[in-house]
Amino acid sequence: MTLRAAAQAVRDNAYAPYSNFKVGAAIQTSTGAVFVGCNVENVAYPEGTCAEAGAIAAMVAAGEIRIECAYVIADSPDPVPPCGGCRQKLAEFAAKDARVTLATLDGTERHTTIKDLLPGAFGADHMDRA
Ligand code: THU
Repeated sequence: MTLRAAAQAVRDNAYAPYSNFKVGAAIQTSTGAVFVGCNVENVAYPEGTCAEAGAIAAMVAAGEIRIECAYVIADSPDPVPPCGGCRQKLAEFAAKDARVTLATLDGTERHTTIKDLLPGAFGADHMDRA
């Protein structure tokens, strides 16, 4: 199964009754394993979680921490960029040049990288004097 197919399939399971905006994410790790996640909303809106966060949680729970590439898909007019928080979450586990593909259901894809999604990222080196 391709990363796109995995992301598209898990998107069907998204729980998004408030926004009606379903998102699916699939991440491939250094071992070749694929982990998927979908957004899970909550009536207490800030408690909702993004698709990317779900996929990352599944990856870490399985004992893996190296994202090689990621794929995010939604039914939007243009490929939807990850939110700010998810950019930081992805950057935690990916190299700067790791590829992230953003896609629409109708097949439009935008290829980007962790570095381009989060320029000037906060990293562990910024705490060197602490
Ligand atoms: N959402 C994601 O799951 N990932 C993104 O990259 C963008 C936004 C979700 C959060 C919320 O459930 C819905 O999309 C609308 O913001």
